[in-house]
Amino acid sequence: MDFTGRDFLQILDFSSDELRYMLEVAKIFKNYKKTGQSHKYFPDKNIVLLFEKTSTRTRCSFEVAGHDLGIGVTYLDPTGSQMGHKESIADTAQVLAKLYDGIEYRGFAQKTVNDLAKYSSVPVWNGLTDYCHPTQALADFMTIEEYFGSLSGLTVAYLGDTRNNVANSLMAMSAKMGVNYIACGPTALKPDSGLLKKCQAVAAENGSTITITSDLQALSDTADVVYTDVWLSMGEDKSKWGERIKQLKPYQVTMKVMDLAKPTTIFMHPLPSFHDLETAVGRDVYEEYGLNELEVTNEVFTSERSLVFEEAENRMHTIKAIIYLTLKDKE
Ligand code: CP
Ligand code: NVA
Repeated sequence: MDFTGRDFLQILDFSSDELRYMLEVAKIFKNYKKTGQSHKYFPDKNIVLLFEKTSTRTRCSFEVAGHDLGIGVTYLDPTGSQMGHKESIADTAQVLAKLYDGIEYRGFAQKTVNDLAKYSSVPVWNGLTDYCHPTQALADFMTIEEYFGSLSGLTVAYLGDTRNNVANSLMAMSAKMGVNYIACGPTALKPDSGLLKKCQAVAAENGSTITITSDLQALSDTADVVYTDVWLSMGEDKSKWGERIKQLKPYQVTMKVMDLAKPTTIFMHPLPSFHDLETAVGRDVYEEYGLNELEVTNEVFTSERSLVFEEAENRMHTIKAIIYLTLKDKE
């Protein structure tokens, strides 16, 4: 299995075996971290984190993973570089590749991260674009496997905006791992047909299915994981809140939805989440639309069935595996 020098741009770029291997390496790193075993393998390497959108988990995971591996880490915030404003992506990529051993990018267009990879001679890691969030999907599957002990025969149901970045990567990862995937939401927000076709073909090869539906009953007695994400993603205009609430309120994850699935069903969310009024955005939406919980109720979010903080922790272990595998010398 050779990852050295490769980019991490989207889940579909990797084979099932390669993704499985990344999960295995992440498990080893998690164990090292828990047992205090030092793994500073790259004291002479440096990486740069380019963020054109805000972040807590992704930024901190790359920073901590980098430090744990002995790597020097530079963080550039959404206003902190010339990229896009005064310098092209091609020029930025070539400059950064002269200084750094790896580049993480979070931003808008998938084309930007693809172009960074095209013009850079060092690995580029996608920390979220409008199209996908592949490091999230890896952490999600690590969490699911840890909880159930195996991925075999499981069904993941995603409720809400089923064509957003997180859903796209979750669908692709489900297909690669041979896990059944149900995208449940309004037809106006259904997954891109090209991506869906590709994922359905991969799922078929791996013995699983992908179902697109507007009917919540599809979860009944089937979903082992109920997954949701925000109803309005970063970069989408605030003026869309009214329309989204109308479209997605029927797909809010409530205890009733959890109970419709199975008694053993768990809840997952990439975070951040609007499950109470403890955020400025949550309060603004409440004032305008009167909803005090959005994509998930506080009852589900805070319940024993919620694995959201385990999931957040696994972002770091899986990101560390990606950095390690792509930076290490060829064997
Ligand atoms: N889940 C996730 O990507 O979180 P951040 O936006 O905080 O990085
Ligand atoms: N869909 C969300 C994910 C955040 C981690 C967004 O893009 O804002």
